[in-house]
Amino acid sequence: MSGRLVIAVDGPAAAGKGTLARALADALGLPYLDTGLLYRAVGRRMLDAGLSPHEDAEPAARALQPEDLRRTDLRTPEVDRAASAVASQPAVRTALLQFQRGFGAEHGAVLDGRDIGTVIFPDARVKLFVTASTRSRAERRWKQMRGDAPVDAAGRAAAIDAVEAELLARDAADSARATAPLRPAPDAVEIDSDALDADAVLREALRIVQARLAES
Ligand code: DC
Repeated sequence: MSGRLVIAVDGPAAAGKGTLARALADALGLPYLDTGLLYRAVGRRMLDAGLSPHEDAEPAARALQPEDLRRTDLRTPEVDRAASAVASQPAVRTALLQFQRGFGAEHGAVLDGRDIGTVIFPDARVKLFVTASTRSRAERRWKQMRGDAPVDAAGRAAAIDAVEAELLARDAADSARATAPLRPAPDAVEIDSDALDADAVLREALRIVQARLAES
């Protein structure tokens, strides 16, 4: 079923896009690209160079190398903020466009991000937009960050409040920016992951993929 099948998976931070996109790619035998990693790696390069991520990050985007994406320090809160800042720069988005298109064009692919269905692959056969309530996204992100450290109920609630505030700020910035803001493509199918576990989200997505392929 691969051919040139491109599946766009967009949505806000920590909605479960990555988990779904990776599982879909496995199930369909397609390559997978987490496009958020590109912006994270550019943000990381800016921080490493002692530059503010609000300064011109186009040179850092043009200098990106495959090994930048394999770094293990791309998911810190500092990099979350730096990635969002560089992602608001049109020249950075332009510098990363061809790589993303090339990745999907050759063999087909599943790509997750914010603008895959609107800008990178506006003609993607399947577009999914994954959402979840802010609270459950914050809980998911907190569980990913927490590791095994013991925590009491009050500490847990306060920590999740802090993560929720960060997520809201980042979503607001990603949605309000002028270039390629976070928003569903008109022909995207929305999946609300609040009441579904990862397997159920995958089943729902596969059902949508089959239905789209049967139409075309
Ligand atoms: O999906 P993520 O949290 O790893 O994304 C990191 C940042 O990059 C986030 O602030 C949004 C931005 N991003 C984007 O603007 N466009 C994409 N296609 C993917 C991510």
